[in-house]
Amino acid sequence: MEILAFGVQADEKPLIERAFADHHPTRTLDVFLNTDTAPIAAGHEIISTSVNCDLGADVLSDLAAGGTRMVAQRSTGFNNVDLDVAERLGITVARVSSYSPYSVAEFAWTLAMAVNRRIVRASTRTRDFDFRLDGLMGRDLHGRTAGVLGTGKIGEAFARIAHGFGMRLLGWDVAENPACRELGMTYVPKEQLLAESDLVSLHVPLLPSTRHLIDATALKSMRDDAILVNSSRGGLVDTAALVDELRAGRFTGVGLDVYEAEAGLFFLDKSLEAVDDDTLARLVTFPNVLVTSHQAYYTVDAVTQIVATTVDNVLDYTAGRRSENVLVPRS
Ligand SMILES: NC(=O)c1ccc[n+]([C@@H]2O[C@H](COP(=O)([O-])OP(=O)(O)OC[C@H]3O[C@@H](n4cnc5c(N)ncnc54)[C@H](O)[C@@H]3O)[C@@H](O)[C@H]2O)c1
Repeated sequence: MEILAFGVQADEKPLIERAFADHHPTRTLDVFLNTDTAPIAAGHEIISTSVNCDLGADVLSDLAAGGTRMVAQRSTGFNNVDLDVAERLGITVARVSSYSPYSVAEFAWTLAMAVNRRIVRASTRTRDFDFRLDGLMGRDLHGRTAGVLGTGKIGEAFARIAHGFGMRLLGWDVAENPACRELGMTYVPKEQLLAESDLVSLHVPLLPSTRHLIDATALKSMRDDAILVNSSRGGLVDTAALVDELRAGRFTGVGLDVYEAEAGLFFLDKSLEAVDDDTLARLVTFPNVLVTSHQAYYTVDAVTQIVATTVDNVLDYTAGRRSENVLVPRS
């Protein structure tokens, strides 16, 4: 049985082909699953998808009509999947519930330090043989406060690095993580965390209750000189409100690996096209903003784990086994 994988990056292709080699033939596509590309899946009982594939009601109906019975999503987040519709259509959906949290936590720190220490501007200057330091002044993080919104696996890994920097740790979550408490983290209300933190990093999942967690009010309650990092999901931040604050000259730096309208843009080469997203176009013009295209997970370690778990999920499905990675059927 051939497994059809959508949204496969060039570096990822050999890892997927190698991992499935002893089990199933695979066909990998660089296109993302959406209403235009869903017909390609016809005749494939099992497909694999990535984070910017559209698994809404229309696509799921097309998949079901074409004979697809199982979707192996190659990510932790599954906000792109309409689980109720999948369940109603009898499509099994599995995800990768955990993989190297260090990939994302280390990248969140990469963004934080790059904006704090003006690394992109410094690099551009030295390539131009401009060796002045004007405008490159950053801040020590030692002794300052890191606020971690979402202290699960990635939030904890982020907090460990903050602890290594000698930072005071504030946390906010619906469930406290004892390992973070052991690091000295104090759990506080979100409003207090935002008001007191020099660095705010987002690690909660995108849910209806966390959509625009960082809205205009939250942004206004943050310190003018704060650093904001979002390596979780774009929808956590109200980007238009963020642009308004940046326009007012606020924040030392903002590092975004995710963007709420990233589907259809991120992972694709749009360099020769006219940009029709005015919010993103404005965002990238701010000298204190760094945007990357959802690459925090993209280490050889994490992708190897993601692919291995995806193979296990497929083998579980074909053997009729159930694992913690199965999202639907719910029981
Ligand atoms: N940029 C990337 O490449 C990338 C890669 C992997 C994961 N992510 C994102 O990182 C997120 C976190 O991943 P993780 O592995 O740490 O997940 P996790 O489940 O280990 O941790 C999530 C934490 O959020 C908390 N939480 C859940 N709902 C909440 C709510 N309504 N309010 C407050 N806290 C809430 C949970 O209690 C948990 O502690 C994922 O959901 C995903 O969106 C991004």
